[in-house]
This record gives sequence, C-alpha cells and structure tokens, in this order.
Amino acid sequence: MLPPLDHIPREIASLSDYETFAQARVDPGTWAYLNAGAGDEWTLRENVAAFARLPLRRRMLRSMRGATTATRLLGLDLQAPILIAPTAYHRLAHPDGELATVLAAGATDTCMVVSTQASLPIEDIAAAATGPLWFQLYIQPDREFTRALVQRAEAAGYRALVVTVDAPVNGLRNAEARAGFALPADIGPVNLAGMQMPQQEAAANALLFGTAIIDHAPVWDDIAWLRAQTRLPVIVKGITDPDDAALAVESGVDGIIVSNHGGRVLDGVPASIDLLPAIVEAVDGWVPVLMDGGVRRGNDVLRALALGASAVLIGRPVLHALATAGALGVAHAIRVLRAELELAMASTGCRTIDEIGLQCLHNFGVARSAW
Ligand code: FNR
Ligand code: LAC
Repeated sequence: MLPPLDHIPREIASLSDYETFAQARVDPGTWAYLNAGAGDEWTLRENVAAFARLPLRRRMLRSMRGATTATRLLGLDLQAPILIAPTAYHRLAHPDGELATVLAAGATDTCMVVSTQASLPIEDIAAAATGPLWFQLYIQPDREFTRALVQRAEAAGYRALVVTVDAPVNGLRNAEARAGFALPADIGPVNLAGMQMPQQEAAANALLFGTAIIDHAPVWDDIAWLRAQTRLPVIVKGITDPDDAALAVESGVDGIIVSNHGGRVLDGVPASIDLLPAIVEAVDGWVPVLMDGGVRRGNDVLRALALGASAVLIGRPVLHALATAGALGVAHAIRVLRAELELAMASTGCRTIDEIGLQCLHNFGVARSAW
C-alpha cells in the first residue's frame, strides 16, 4: 500500500480520478467497505447513471458579473450548496481520519456532517473545526444514551442534527464479505463507547426478526421525541418516498435529505436524483430538501438544484480524496466541484443559486426562463 500523497498530481482533474489513487492506498477489505453497495449494486450504479440522463440546456451571452454560488441553508451562510456527507470511520481512509477531513472543510468553508460512527471523538473533531459542523445521529437502542449523545453534540458546537433513518440494520454487504472486510482492532465507533446493548433472548434460528436490533429500531414517534430533546434544527436523512417526506414534515423536522444511503442498504431503490422531484413536490416548500447519492460533477449539483434540491452532499469521493492526500485531497476535491458548478452556472446562464431551475434541463417542459 502506498502512503498518502503530499501534492495533487495533474492526473487528478475530477472527483472520479481520485478512485485509482485511493485504491492504491487502502487494503482490499477497506476498499470494498468504502465502495460497496447492497445486493447487486444496481442502485449504486443508478445513482450515478441517472444524472447522465438529464441533459443540460445552455444559454449564451448573459452577463455573469456579480455571479455567486453562495447560499443560505438552515441558518448557515454557505459558499456553495455542497456539504460533506456523513461517513463512518475516516481513519480507515487516512491515519488522521476525521481531523484531516475537518481541516479541509474549514479551509474551504464547507459544512461537514460528522457521523455517529466517526472514528474520533466528536469533541476532538469540533475542537479542530474552523467551519460549521452538523452531527449525524443514529438513534441508538438505548434512548438515554442517544439523548446524552445529542447533548454532547450540542455542547461541542454542532449546528444541526442529521438523523439517519434508512439504515436501522446494516449487515455485511456482499462485496465486503467477499473481500473479508473487518474493522481493524484500533478503529471503531468511539463515540458509542460504554453503550449497553439491550439484553434480549432471540430464538436460536433468528436472523433479524425477533432480535434486539430490530425490536429497538427507531419509529416515527422517536423523531417527535428527538425534536423535543433539542433546539437544534433536525434534518431527516434517508427519505425516498413522498409519503415519508410528508410524515417527516408532520413530525416537525427542519429539513429532509433524499438519500438511498449511497445504494448501501436496499438494492433496487431508484436513484436519488430520480426520487427528488416527487419529494420536492410533496414537501411543497415547507422545509429545505437536500439530496445525496452519485453527485460526482458540478453539473450534477446544478441538475439536483434544477430539480428542487437546496443543496447536495458528497459521500465516497470525499473518502477517495482523503485516502489519496488527506486534508489536501479533500480540499482539492471540493474546489474542483465548485469550479465545475461555476462553469455549469455560467453555461446555463444562472447568476445565482436561486436562478437554477428546470429551465437548465433540456426538454424539461419549461419553454422559457424568467430572464
Ligand atoms: C456512508 N453513509 C453514511 N450515512 C450516514 O448517515 N451515517 C454513516 O455513518 C454513513 N457511513 C457511510 C460510510 C461509507 C463508507 C459510505 C460510502 C457511505 C452514507 C452517506 O452519508 C451518503 O448517503 C452516500 O455516501 C452518498 O452517496 P455517494 O456520494 O457516496 O454516491
Ligand atoms: C455505512 C453505515 C455506517 O453505510 O452507515 O457503512
């Protein structure tokens, strides 16, 4: 395995260029973990492929003087509508783990969403942060422990809670099993240390049903409970259905992330970008709708915004950049994406994030843009 780079070679011109460099710097089991999707990985492929089915519509000669990618989201002033998605165990990708990612987030003024399954204490990550952080929460079987975790995140200065609802159960994916992936002894969910798992006698032949993990999985009432525990904005991540989006709004959440968990949980779910329009319609402007899954280009960011997303989150490419060149890699990846977004906006005649709309998409039933 090669060590992380201390410079960005010219061969890395786009986010996907990071893949081969990253693969050479992690063991095969870790590579499988970072990239695996559930089942036959159809959803994983669709997340990326679906963007390519949304051709863009250019407009010429519009002045871009004063153009900006800046936007406001849930009380944050963002330089661009691009966030770092919560992903587990950054120390698998780079020895500095989340400390490298948060350095890059601060240097580029990007909001980082820190996972419940971070490989470093959430307080240490917050102490190193120079930009805004959100905390991704997995509601734990022990609700008191969960409440304490929320209080830790608040005390450490996290600015919102992202409660992930689409991965109550997370078995080994096929690709991980084949590669023999197991967490190294010195890397794990340190923020869950000391948590008691509920004692429950499962039948000898129980698979999932009848086990503690499924019987204590969160339900909608837990979202209302969480809402009552905190003054922070609560954003639900992992919504793929308009009816669930409506239930989330009814539960009092402040935002929704359309996500199929990067194709890692249930294979066969459509691409996030294909699910987005119906959810935006159901939410009807009550709360911001974000999306993740398959965003690899600034053009994809523009497509997601055109279909009604307020912002996007980036998962695997951040881990690839982290494995390749630590904080430098992540900062570079974010800058590449922003540069592509600016070019896409200039080419479609959008001076501001608010101006990005259906008129940017070819054949999308919008004859004329507003200007
Ligand atoms: C994830 N994701 C995830 N989500 C979450 O809410 N908590 C977590 O701990 C993790 N962990 C995690 C680990 C790894 C290795 C991956 C690849 C993903 C899902 C993540 O937040 C996001 O939804 C997807 O990664 C987005 O898709 P892309 O950008 O990877 O295509
Ligand atoms: C995953 C879990 C940690 O996707 O969310 O691997």
